[in-house]
Amino acid sequence: MVGTVSYMPPEQAMGGEVTPRADLYSLGAMLYEMVCGRPPFVGDDSVAIIGQHINTPPVAPTWHNPGCPTALESLIMRLLEKDPSERPKSAADVLVALESVPIYRHTFVGREAEVRQLHSAFDSTLSGEGSLVMVVGEPGIGKTTICDQLATYVTLRGGKTLRGNCYEEGSPSLPYLPFVEAMRSYVLERDSDELKRELGSGATDVARIVSEVRDRVEVEPREPGDAEQDRYRLLQSVTDFLRNASSVQPLLIILEDLHDADRGTLDMLAHVARSQSGARLMIVGTYRDVEVDRSHPLSGTLADLRRLPNFSRVLLRGLSADEVQRMLSLITDREIPWGLAEAVHRQTEGNPLFVQEVVRYLVEEGLIAREGGQLRPTSDVSLAMSIPEGLRDVIGKRLSRLSDECNRVQSTAAVIGREFNMDVLGRVAEGPDARPPGSNRRSPRSSSGPDG
Ligand SMILES: Nc1ncnc2c1ncn2[C@@H]1O[C@H](COP(=O)(O)OP(=O)(O)O)[C@@H](O)[C@H]1O
Ligand SMILES: [Mg+2]
Repeated sequence: MVGTVSYMPPEQAMGGEVTPRADLYSLGAMLYEMVCGRPPFVGDDSVAIIGQHINTPPVAPTWHNPGCPTALESLIMRLLEKDPSERPKSAADVLVALESVPIYRHTFVGREAEVRQLHSAFDSTLSGEGSLVMVVGEPGIGKTTICDQLATYVTLRGGKTLRGNCYEEGSPSLPYLPFVEAMRSYVLERDSDELKRELGSGATDVARIVSEVRDRVEVEPREPGDAEQDRYRLLQSVTDFLRNASSVQPLLIILEDLHDADRGTLDMLAHVARSQSGARLMIVGTYRDVEVDRSHPLSGTLADLRRLPNFSRVLLRGLSADEVQRMLSLITDREIPWGLAEAVHRQTEGNPLFVQEVVRYLVEEGLIAREGGQLRPTSDVSLAMSIPEGLRDVIGKRLSRLSDECNRVQSTAAVIGREFNMDVLGRVAEGPDARPPGSNRRSPRSSSGPDG
């Protein structure tokens, strides 16, 4: 048998007739890997993989990558049909199908001053000053994105970025979760001797919250003592660990969505931040200022942090109309008339997530369409007139195209939480038999909407 088993069509594996449609299957397997980060079938050896090509239906790409557009998913699934006659007829047909897939590019516009501020905060971290920056703004304004930009810079300068997220109230969460997430990724990839040295005598305490530590280094068991003392030791051990790790390479720790942080996380943040001086450690926190009033727990922590000499704040507000025009041109790959850009700017107040949603809406409504690889308006109707008002409206219009039943199931899912389990949803929605239509995912994210 000749070929790479990961991309092998079943008819070839079985020694049957091989037609040009066999190549389309292989193309499907490649596209699958590009979208999902892994081929459709994996196994310990060739026989196990070939067996799946012959017998097992592939898992839908959106299970691995929820961002995969529906049209692309259905094309990939058709390419991977076991029966060649069920696949697209020709490569030309595949090209037509591919061209109709709405693919949105990621762009980055504006924010020059803010990016400079973050870079220079990291530069001073390199000279051992430590720094703490809060990136602040409403959902969708670009907090996560600007942190990504900083992370790229940090990599270029030989540093390492660790990330952790806070989750909305009601989602299952653990105390200190963002620190746990950030440290876990480090613990898993670090050489175990080095790790042992960096954890030092705090290994036992860190292992209490990052259980993976136990798999990597030997940890002395210790009886729990006075709760307050144990808590203090934990904060101190985490601080020592991060400081030690940052002496090996400069560290950036990104703590996302602190408006959802638990008390423990905020205390840990304050503790680590107070001990930053002399360490090549930068901490960036993000939060939505709209959600933090004076009674919010974060508000008290911020009052303390602001007193630290290395504290600064990056406030993100809407993009300007110029920047929205540039963003639209980059996404759609065409010149955007000023009037249209201004209308989008007005309706979205320059919130980049809203801008993207508006473009998607225009494409999905067929008001602009892909033509020879570029997006063009389909009619003379003024696009500016067709822009819905605000994100709520955009999402509302999308939901209104789904069936009532589908909307009802989505509402139930939204109440269950940010992540939900199909069994629970099925039982809540309509007793044991109900399954949400058109989905076979076990635990999808609730949507691709604002995540913080
Ligand atoms: N400066 C920017 N230029 C272009 N697109 C942006 C910019 N900032 C954010 N976006 C886009 O807007 C969306 C929301 O940004 P995100 O960083 O997730 O917001 P937040 O974390 O504040 O909720 C993302 O899809 C992102 O790609
Ligand atoms: Mg975010």
